[in-house]
Amino acid sequence: MEIEIHLAKPEDRKAPNFDKLVFGKIFTPHMFVMKYEEGKGWHSPKIIPFSNIELHPAAIVLHYSQTIFEGMKAYFGVDGKIRLFRPFDHINRLNRSADRMCIPQVDPNFAFEAIKTLVLLDKDWIPKQKGSALYIRPFIFATENTLGVKVSHEYLFMIILSPVGPYYAEGFNPVKIYVTEEYVRACPGGTGEVKTGGNYAASLKAQAVAQQKGYTQVLWLDGKERKYVEEVGSMNIFFYFSDELATPALSGSILPGITRDSVLKLASHLGIPAKERKISIDEVISAIQEGRLKECFGTGTAAVISPVGEICYKDKPYVIGQGQTGELTKKFFDYITGIQYGEREDEFNWTVVL
Ligand code: COI
Repeated sequence: MEIEIHLAKPEDRKAPNFDKLVFGKIFTPHMFVMKYEEGKGWHSPKIIPFSNIELHPAAIVLHYSQTIFEGMKAYFGVDGKIRLFRPFDHINRLNRSADRMCIPQVDPNFAFEAIKTLVLLDKDWIPKQKGSALYIRPFIFATENTLGVKVSHEYLFMIILSPVGPYYAEGFNPVKIYVTEEYVRACPGGTGEVKTGGNYAASLKAQAVAQQKGYTQVLWLDGKERKYVEEVGSMNIFFYFSDELATPALSGSILPGITRDSVLKLASHLGIPAKERKISIDEVISAIQEGRLKECFGTGTAAVISPVGEICYKDKPYVIGQGQTGELTKKFFDYITGIQYGEREDEFNWTVVL
């Protein structure tokens, strides 16, 4: 399929000054749009000037949330090259999310071409400072109009780009997280392991409570027993106990993060024992009290590697590593961002140079 390109006006294509970038507030001048109709399949891919879109008020996505998304980044390297980080892993995860949400799959090579064409067209909008990047948001949503609950026969696949700085206002400084026992994000058999808007909508109430109490994010427990740690609002979680690095095993309700997987692979490469296993909140709290929890950090495309300096459980704060960023956390951060910005050799073949 050929992508039809309609350019934005030259005055809209000029990149602004990226001095104070916050996450997800500004967008590049172009976006990718492709339609799906039952019987016709995916068709008419276009890159057009960034604009609002029109939706029928009864579009299925607005009522029943049949929608999925991905989040990946393009980095401006120290060598002036543009790199994507594990793009095919993101595209494959998009297709797994599509499968769970009864959305038609996209051809991975075509999706990659669409991302590449769009990023190269708006390449002047990739911020150059280390720590910033061009966030790529592919998403697909149901556009058929009906109030009946059903699988849509029509979709839009869109890609938008946003120059971003750090996800958290804290930057690479430790964040504080709040354990909720009242609410759950996902449960066995649900949609917790895919990237669909409903998971995030379900998290907002607990997030509001956490923020009101002065915490940045929620630490979710499993939906069945509310005993085992699952993930944090926008990232996976790792604990560095005295003798091992551990992260919750993918239980079906945890998002299989690509940065999570990169940390596991990197740990094994560096000879650091790392386990995916069940981790109860009680184990974490006792390890903090007994000084056995050395470090804790979150991982995610948006969050990169974010140190966690405090966990609040049953309304009691527990400080980890004096609230400072740990050595191992810093090592992972430097290693992974080093690969992303082309500062070090990519022995894992994670990056694709555009
Ligand atoms: C990402 O890390 O890309 C995410 O999808 C988190 C997002 C909800 C900000």
